[in-house]
Amino acid sequence: MKANVLEAPDQPIVWKEVETPIPGPGEVVVKIKAAALNRRDYWISIGKYAGLKYPAILGSDGAGIVTEFGEGVDPNWLNKEVVINAAFNWGENDNAQGKDFKILGLPDDGTLAEYVKVTAENLFDKPAYLTWEQAAAFPLAGVTAFRALTVKAKAKKGDTVLISGVGSGTGTFALQFALAMGCRVFVTSGSGEKLDSAIQMGALAGVNYKAQDWAEELQHLSGGFDIIIDSALGEGFAKFPDLCKPGGRIVFFGGTAGDIPSINGRKVFWKQLQLLGSTMGNAADFKAMLEFMHTHQIIPVIDEVYPMNTAGDVIKKMGTSAQFGKLVLTI
Ligand SMILES: NC(=O)c1ccc[n+]([C@@H]2O[C@H](COP(=O)([O-])OP(=O)(O)OC[C@H]3O[C@@H](n4cnc5c(N)ncnc54)[C@H](OP(=O)(O)O)[C@@H]3O)[C@@H](O)[C@H]2O)c1
Repeated sequence: MKANVLEAPDQPIVWKEVETPIPGPGEVVVKIKAAALNRRDYWISIGKYAGLKYPAILGSDGAGIVTEFGEGVDPNWLNKEVVINAAFNWGENDNAQGKDFKILGLPDDGTLAEYVKVTAENLFDKPAYLTWEQAAAFPLAGVTAFRALTVKAKAKKGDTVLISGVGSGTGTFALQFALAMGCRVFVTSGSGEKLDSAIQMGALAGVNYKAQDWAEELQHLSGGFDIIIDSALGEGFAKFPDLCKPGGRIVFFGGTAGDIPSINGRKVFWKQLQLLGSTMGNAADFKAMLEFMHTHQIIPVIDEVYPMNTAGDVIKKMGTSAQFGKLVLTI
């Protein structure tokens, strides 16, 4: 088969011939119809990720057709149209993943290839209302946003929610999910065009996080937040406790903008705020997200679709953060 292979950090990713995977016990091989990128693929491509190993076939998100199965797998999976939950071996504890947890696309070979081998328990039926591209776009970013809003933030109708960096893949899902839950949603972005797109989707208002007075402006517009969903950390994070209403929840799962410089702890305890770390989601979260997406007919926001053999260039493009939503690759 052909696959996008990363031989070393900062080296070009090459579309080349590699061995086609063979399923072991409990495993299937999926012929990829479409795959999608996550910031993780970019971090790995520049050598900034834990547990790096080379050569690597990146890609956590994929949708396709089951072509082979190993011992112990229900034969009914054969020829089924599936999406892959990229979270493997979550473990028994619903509150956090265990030590054997891994994400598809490092250490194991991922979806930026003609075929991928995964455990059958990570397969879910492809939602029939979505195209291949749309189905490939939601697993990792979708479940991350869904768990952040539901399990962590306990979002409910009427809550005032801030989604920071709304142009991100995770941000667009958080926006769609929070709107579908009946929340009042405000957003930030580094781009005026992306703020406009978010407002067209249903956000009440947005501010550019590069503006000097972005936090004051948000406070004025919103009256304060019950929930803040953030994937960036960085300088701006220190303003979040001010922006929260008493009892507010700040959920974060990424550090695109760096570390948190300092935070006023007194404000956090006096306002009884909760700072909640989150990472992806377990199988129950994934299933609940699928049901939620089906009920609300959520269509993932795709920035652009590219040919699979250009993954290297598209991963580089991701580093510029020009996209609004997901970057998808098809064969
Ligand atoms: N822990 C987990 O399970 C998990 C899961 C998924 C993602 N993540 C992490 O979450 C982050 C987002 O992932 P992704 O795949 O959604 O990324 P992505 O699609 O590449 O989006 C990156 C976005 O970050 C935003 N951004 C950059 N600087 C910012 C700042 N100072 N303040 C606010 N937003 C800023 C930009 O939004 P605008 O264009 O709107 O300015 C940019 O488009 C990454 O760091 C990723 O590693 C973690």
